[in-house]
Amino acid sequence: MRVLWVTNDLPPRAGGIEQFVGNLLDRVHPSSTLVIGPAGAGDDEQRAHDAAQPYRTVRAPGAVQPTPAIRRLVLDAAREHRAQVVVLGASWPLGELAPRIERELRIPVVAISHGLEAGLASVGLGHLVRRATRGLAALTTISDWAEDRLLPHVRADRVVRIPPGVDVDRFRPDVDGTALRRAWGVPDDAPLVGCVSRLVPRKGQDRLLAVWPEVRARHPMAHLALVGEGPLADDLAGAAAALGSDAGVVLPGRVAWDDLPAAHAAADVFAMPCRTRLLGTDVEGLGIVYLEAQAVGRPAIAGRSGGAPEAVQDGVTGTVVDGRDDGALVAALDRWLADPDGRARAGAAGRAWVEQAWAWAAIADRFATLLDEVVAEHAGRRVSPPRPGG
Ligand code: GDD
Repeated sequence: MRVLWVTNDLPPRAGGIEQFVGNLLDRVHPSSTLVIGPAGAGDDEQRAHDAAQPYRTVRAPGAVQPTPAIRRLVLDAAREHRAQVVVLGASWPLGELAPRIERELRIPVVAISHGLEAGLASVGLGHLVRRATRGLAALTTISDWAEDRLLPHVRADRVVRIPPGVDVDRFRPDVDGTALRRAWGVPDDAPLVGCVSRLVPRKGQDRLLAVWPEVRARHPMAHLALVGEGPLADDLAGAAAALGSDAGVVLPGRVAWDDLPAAHAAADVFAMPCRTRLLGTDVEGLGIVYLEAQAVGRPAIAGRSGGAPEAVQDGVTGTVVDGRDDGALVAALDRWLADPDGRARAGAAGRAWVEQAWAWAAIADRFATLLDEVVAEHAGRRVSPPRPGG
């Protein structure tokens, strides 16, 4: 099947949508796919990444948004590639391209939704969702939370659950994080709390630093690693420095894609106490990092924001806390740091759950089936005779 992907979020840039799109591209018709993605920095990492993929990538100048220039590029690329289906990496705002693609090219358009679209729907901006889904053959959703909020507004022909997953062959309990721990200056015998995430306010790294003195009072050897990059890097580094050089906090920056499993395995407990912000528009759709941490056998502490509680089995594979409740966060960290056997049990349960419910291989198969179905349905619609009286 010849597929055209249009996405503003594409590896090697880090992030959940990038991770989601990259994993589907790797697994669903990779050698007959053309991708239109953002130019980004145009650096060596991006060039090397694009050259190594089985699919061809066209980097559009600037961002990939539903502008007239991008619309022209998409229509031309779809014709040149003889695409049978177009996939939009995020339904809002790219879904606004769909009616024109459908009308001019007579091919179906499928769009993937994440957390933002459900956030818009839940704060009275459902008309944006309606506009961005009216030309879609299918819209995919990532969690119960997101789907519940989207359904009243969706105009797509159908809605199908395609959550993000984990590559369970890469994220494994036997991945060794020792070298990274040492590179970060964490002693081999120190319990390590890890957070792997973009450094943005919603993710709650600030709360981890705020409660750290109390956690340290209970666990004097404990260390905290805030992995990732983002706009809060300087603020978080300042807050960490204010705790003192012997507080056991490190901010190692961004890790390479290849090092992500080891970055999770380096920690004993994963914690990202996310919280909903900006009146509900800045919200966690699900949280791939919780799945990654569980896949390497670590308990995960999640925040009660959007679909994040669906990514952890509260009390079994981790803990769900109110990201604004520092006391609850301390209690959760204390619980897992104090109990190595409990960590091992939760880790094993988390690994089993991820293998069974969140493995990319099975999720990508569902997505491939969806593309087959919408292409077949669309072809059937084109050749079916006009209805009597129609
Ligand atoms: N290589 C690299 N380096 N990857 C990183 C780094 C880093 O330093 N920091 C974070 N990541 C990766 C994580 O490992 C994970 O795979 C991804 O970036 C982050 O994904 P999410 O935890 O899902 O967060 P998000 O806010 O970027 O993603 C949004 O879309 C997701 C997919 O639909 C949110 O709405 C999520 O809730 C949603 O799951």
